[in-house]
This record gives sequence, structure tokens and C-alpha cells, in this order.
Amino acid sequence: MAITLKSAAEIDKMRIAGRLAADVLKMIEPHIVPGVTTDRLDEICHDYMVNVQQTIPAPLNYRGFPKSICTSVNHQVCHGIPSSKVLKNGDMINIDITVIKDEYHGDTSRMFVVGKPKIQAQRLAQVAYDCMKIGIEMIKPGVALGDIGFAIQTYAEKNRCSIVREYCGHGIGKGFHEDPQVLHYGKAGTGVVLEPGMTFTIEPMVNLGKRHVKLLPDDWTVVTKDRSLSAQWEHTNLVTDYGFEILTEHPDWPL
Ligand code: MF3
Ligand code: CO
Ligand code: CO
Repeated sequence: MAITLKSAAEIDKMRIAGRLAADVLKMIEPHIVPGVTTDRLDEICHDYMVNVQQTIPAPLNYRGFPKSICTSVNHQVCHGIPSSKVLKNGDMINIDITVIKDEYHGDTSRMFVVGKPKIQAQRLAQVAYDCMKIGIEMIKPGVALGDIGFAIQTYAEKNRCSIVREYCGHGIGKGFHEDPQVLHYGKAGTGVVLEPGMTFTIEPMVNLGKRHVKLLPDDWTVVTKDRSLSAQWEHTNLVTDYGFEILTEHPDWPL
């Protein structure tokens, strides 16, 4: 599959989808409190997307995924399925939102801490955020994806954290997961060279312990093998003529 360069009209639609995805994260924030279940968070997001935004929750029925959002708690790395699991004080949770509006996808996730944050959780969430930020700020025409992966990996490892290798960022547009694959590790000077009009996510998964992961029997939930905490942030980005535009930025949460 080839990398598609988006036209001005397509970019306009992706800006709208991106902002709507960010709005769901903003909307759900006050509901993330001790005692709430991840099923309830899914239900609130689903209703908001379908009834208020009139967007389609992209995860629902995607390759058999049963819910409208992903909720990954503590040592869960990604693709956690909302359930009757009750959030407790000190938990950390990634909520990953993907909406479809007018045929185009917006994909974004971020960490939230439930109640009072623990020092280690806070540190990991910050390292993962900085990894995403370092990657995004490198985006401009002529930069290779390997340069970005290398910078992200170097920063994570300097901070005694590790980067998950089995999952990566991705091109996005009419498709949820388009080419190219955006690795969060790698070798400088290798891989796809960025051009204006490309749209892709950067979504590093960063572990406090070792990088290895395993898939739970539900066939979706990815967890760290050593049960160490894991954190992830994600934005959908556009390569512009001279740099980048974050399509899923919320004005209350600038990069
Ligand atoms: N939103 C995830 C990503 O960032 C993909 C979730 S696929 C699902 O690419 F089926 F689990 F929803
Ligand atoms: Co994504
Ligand atoms: Co996502």
C-alpha cells in the first residue's frame, strides 16, 4: 500500500476529525475518578461521539474490537477493552479515541491519573509525553522516519525506560491504519522521507521496566511481560511545507 498525500480539501476534513477526537478526551476527563468503571467511560464516550458529535467510533467492530474506545490501565500497554474493572486512587490510564467524521479519521490518546498520582506513574507519564513531543517537533519535509524513531528511543532509554517495538504509529486518513508504519525506535537516516501532505500518528508506548509485551487471551489487551507500568500518548500530525501541524491538539492542552 502506498503513502497517500492529502489534498487541501482532505486536510480540512482531517482537521475537523482530529479536533473532534481531542474534544472526546477533554469531555471524558472529569469522569475519570476513583470508583468509575472503564465500561462507564466507554459508554459516555460512545454516546457523546454518536449523539453529540455525530461521529463514528472507529474502534467499534474494527477487526472485531467490541467497544468504542481503548482503556489501558497501569501495566496494560494498549488496546485495553473497557470492562467492569473499577478505577482506584493512584491508577494511571490511557484513553485512546479514534473518530470518523465525513470519512476521515482522527486518532489521539493521552494519560490520566486517577485521584492522587504516584511519583513513579507521574515520572513515566512525563517521559512518554516527552517522547511523543520530541518526535512531533522533528516533523518537517526531508526528515526520515528513522531519525524520529531514533530520537524517541534515545530519549526513553536515557531516562531508564524502554520502548515497545511490536506496535507503532501509522499513516491515517480515510483508512484507520495506512502506510507508513511509524516506529518509535530505529536508526537515524533510514526509512520513509517526509513530504508535505503526509498525515500520520506518533504514539510511543513507554515502559518503566523491560520493553517486552504479551497479548492477553482476549486477543486485544497488550500488557508488559514484567508487569511494569506502561504509558502512551498519541497525536495525529500533518507534514506542512516547513514543519508540522498537530491535527488532534486541543486548545486547553497545547503541546
Ligand atoms: N487507536 C489505536 C491506534 O492508535 C488503534 C486501536 S484498534 C482497536 O492505532 F481496535 F483496538 F480499537
Ligand atoms: Co493510532
Ligand atoms: Co489511537
